[in-house]
Amino acid sequence: MQCAQNFFNQKAYLNHSSLLRKIKKIGYRGRKNRNPLRKNHPHQIRRNRNERNLTPQNYVISLISPTMETVVSGIRSTGNLHLGNYFGAVKNFLKMQDQYNCFFFIADYHSLTTHPTPGNLRQSVRQVLAEYLASGLDPEKCTLYIQSDIPETAELYLLLNMNAYMGELERSTSFKDKVRSQPENVNAGLLTYPVLMAADILIHRAAKVPVGKDQEQHLEMTRTFGNRFNRMYNTEFFPEPVAFNFGESLVKIPGLDGKGKMGKSEGEMNAVFLAESPDSIRKKVMKAVTDAGPAHANSVKPEVVENLFTLMKVVSTAETIQYFEDKWNDCSIRYGDLKKQLAEDIISFQAPLRERILEIQQDETYLQKVMKMGKEKAHASASLTVREVREIIGINY
Ligand code: TRP
Repeated sequence: MQCAQNFFNQKAYLNHSSLLRKIKKIGYRGRKNRNPLRKNHPHQIRRNRNERNLTPQNYVISLISPTMETVVSGIRSTGNLHLGNYFGAVKNFLKMQDQYNCFFFIADYHSLTTHPTPGNLRQSVRQVLAEYLASGLDPEKCTLYIQSDIPETAELYLLLNMNAYMGELERSTSFKDKVRSQPENVNAGLLTYPVLMAADILIHRAAKVPVGKDQEQHLEMTRTFGNRFNRMYNTEFFPEPVAFNFGESLVKIPGLDGKGKMGKSEGEMNAVFLAESPDSIRKKVMKAVTDAGPAHANSVKPEVVENLFTLMKVVSTAETIQYFEDKWNDCSIRYGDLKKQLAEDIISFQAPLRERILEIQQDETYLQKVMKMGKEKAHASASLTVREVREIIGINY
């Protein structure tokens, strides 16, 4: 299949994994040669910064990407990317993959807190994967993997749980929200959600984490857990990850309900999905909320109208926007015309993406290759962290 060839370069992949195998070997030999006294003094933690910087993991990273900082971000596995996700998060990832050592993963473990059926889980993980690949995430440039494919995350999660306190977990805003919204399913996975997220980030010892505002508290908790570990074992093993938004501020895409941001939780009609059919897009856009029209020339646009213009800014040409601006200003605007045009422009923008999503979803061989490659690359980084953490804790009998 053509998309498979475009996205995947078999030769580069093989070179990459054999490189990792070589590095792993070197890392292992290096470890054996280290301070022989350590075996007898498991609690004696290295303090020397230079020595710390020569951990096998740093060695791997420095060979793969000599100057790049590590970025980690988790993608919710609920599927159905919409235009808001695309212009907000995905485009940001696309820029990052060129300049950072990026790990992007589909957070399927996290999604188990809501008890999806096996069929739903499988379907949505594959859909998210296809959507991100179609949008331009390149498995050659970044490490794109499924969270549950690397058991090291689960191990680090277990270890970090020992130093995460009930009080702080219960105080997390997201947990309190869930207790309120789904009192029938307050499981321990929800309580320890931030610990799992910390494990996701610390497993690659990331410096930067692209997340939205709603995840900042979780990131703060990640820093708390990492720092607590460092203090407890008198080490500087885990760096402090910070929230990261690339370059200029993120584009906020309004929804079609006239009230603010595009989002799934605001209802199906509010968002335009990347995989949505043209007919469905037309219907949604035609139903977008508007008002009675401008009362006098050159008036300030109310939010509902401004939102439609904001959408036009990302999909329509400058001439089209100017045409409707003029119509607004001289009060001759017809919202029906504006919506028709907006729908067609959204469709032309989104159609190639939609086609690629459908194509990739059908291409089982390609999806399998991508998952396998991501798993290998993520495992190479994660296993070094866990090996080191086990040693620091004293699990090295
Ligand atoms: N909790 C994040 C969300 O809901 C997803 C996520 C899981 C994540 N693990 C992560 C994000 C690690 C960044 C880093 O969007």
